Amino acid sequence: MLSTRAPAKINLTLHILGRRADGYHALESLVVFSGAGDTLSLTPGAALSLDVTGPTAPAAGASDDNLVLRAARNLAGRIEGLRLGAFRLEKRLPVAAGIGGGSSDAAAALRLLAHANDLAADDPRLYEAARATGSDVPVCLAGRARIMRGAGESLGPLLSLPLLPAVLINPGVPVETRPVFARLGLQPGESVSGGAHPEIPSGADAPALLALLEKGRNDLEDPACLQAPVIVDVLAVLRAARGCRLARMSGSGATCFALFTTPQTAARAARAIRRQHPEWWVKTAALR
Ligand code: C5P
Repeated sequence: MLSTRAPAKINLTLHILGRRADGYHALESLVVFSGAGDTLSLTPGAALSLDVTGPTAPAAGASDDNLVLRAARNLAGRIEGLRLGAFRLEKRLPVAAGIGGGSSDAAAALRLLAHANDLAADDPRLYEAARATGSDVPVCLAGRARIMRGAGESLGPLLSLPLLPAVLINPGVPVETRPVFARLGLQPGESVSGGAHPEIPSGADAPALLALLEKGRNDLEDPACLQAPVIVDVLAVLRAARGCRLARMSGSGATCFALFTTPQTAARAARAIRRQHPEWWVKTAALR
């Protein structure tokens, strides 16, 4: 049996540049990953199947449109005789949460299939299958910090960034991605003028990175807050936490993150927030 982690992805910034003729939004986003996430395993075999367990399994489901199965089929459609098998997903991340749970699961499925079929990690068919599965799947394939552009298919070089102690909060309200983008109200072909995305140098230290992140934003925050007003409360709670340096929403929400200078201050803040809001999913994370 082969096994791999499917870490949460966090958009530290997400700038919308416009809407393309194909309807997708052109964006620029600094994506990093958390140590924590789902776990996916594969027992190689001829038939494709998926079993989902874990705390958030009921929300994820093992239905035919689960991204693990879609990714596997997208790769099988590109490689004749691809050995498939029985996937088992231990689902811990909240679903429809802006932290790429499904996308990271799909990318993990592609990595496991690559291993089971002796494909090189940089085999272009893996990237093509990732792209066909969803906008965030290519960036999740490597699972390392980088700038994502286009609708997600264009990836900058891997960045070496410092570990950022963080607290993640999901208030338990699933947020569908498509309507959040739609609320931006952009027409196909329309571009947006707005602050340029800060350049993120590989090797930046934590204070320099924080200063650059302060110049960035997540343009989906306002439309997501209209769709799920509890996000306003989540951001207020994070910003009020002792030691919080920056709080922002990830992806199309509802998960928000706060960055701290030490793991201890992050842990202290998480404990206080859990006491205040036992109904929320509150996790400490080291982002990189
Ligand atoms: O690619 P994915 O299926 O994850 O995207 C879900 C939906 O989010 C798309 O159907 C589209 O409406 C919206 N989207 C977008 N621009 C992006 C990514 C997603 O408009 N860059």
